[in-house]
Amino acid sequence: MAQPSRPALIVHGGAGNWTNFDEAAVLNGVRAAALAGWEILRAGGSAIEAVEEAAILLEDDPLFDAGYGSFVNLEGEVEMDALITDGRGIRFGAVAAVRRVRHAITLARLVMTRTENCFFAGDGADQLAAELGLSLIPNIDLVTEKEFALFRQREADRLPRAGLGTGTIGAAAVDSAGHVASATSTGGTPDKRKGRVGDSPIFGAGGYADDAHGAASATGRGEQIMRFFLCKEAVDAVRGISAAQAAQAAMQSFAARVPSPEAGLILAGADGSLGAVHTTPAMPTAWVTADGQVGAVMQVPPDFGI
Ligand code: GLY
Repeated sequence: MAQPSRPALIVHGGAGNWTNFDEAAVLNGVRAAALAGWEILRAGGSAIEAVEEAAILLEDDPLFDAGYGSFVNLEGEVEMDALITDGRGIRFGAVAAVRRVRHAITLARLVMTRTENCFFAGDGADQLAAELGLSLIPNIDLVTEKEFALFRQREADRLPRAGLGTGTIGAAAVDSAGHVASATSTGGTPDKRKGRVGDSPIFGAGGYADDAHGAASATGRGEQIMRFFLCKEAVDAVRGISAAQAAQAAMQSFAARVPSPEAGLILAGADGSLGAVHTTPAMPTAWVTADGQVGAVMQVPPDFGI
């Protein structure tokens, strides 16, 4: 295998079942997000800018559980969590249970870059968004017709949705200067209770970055992932091994300790190596390597590694 080189970027559209979806449209979605991030890296932009841009595209795509298209909670509302991580100085910004911004990932970035804090939640996070110049939108503008119909159906028959369905979105990148970053954004799990927050905004669990090793973004059952700090485990494992080997090792440890694991993980090594792994039936994933080669798959093969 050729030696990895920088810059490089990988995105995921969520670990889940992905049954009854237009596979071509899903793959187009992750591919477009990866290419958007890649264009920034190719032009000399930073890993932070690249992962934010990739996440924004996925938040705007109704096929994915983030931003517009998020799963609604039991009250029929969208509540979003997001985390952006910066390997320079091991920094992050996070938001949880935000309801009135179009791009939760941008708010997370503003928390990191424009406040002295790391994490805002609920109404206070939406209020901060307005203070920092983001437009506040009605929550219903984040609800797709499909989600609204599913909510009405559930209200009628009182049956919860089964399984994870789709999942959180994320991106991880290393730029030409060797800085790493990740972005993670989600509407959470289907039919979640109001106020429930998963792993996605939790630094170390839903995402992590350290320029010494790499950056990661996780997806799947938050109640499992946050108990294990899956992304910190994976990033810390990139010591003398590739991102792919580290992702596999972290997922194996996770699966050995957490019963019935439902999770996925992408990882960008500071050396430009890329890894991805999932325990679920599918995890749409796309990547771009330093030489501009683009790939996209619904299921990441066990021997995946760049
Ligand atoms: N992994 C997303 C969540 O559990 O909310």
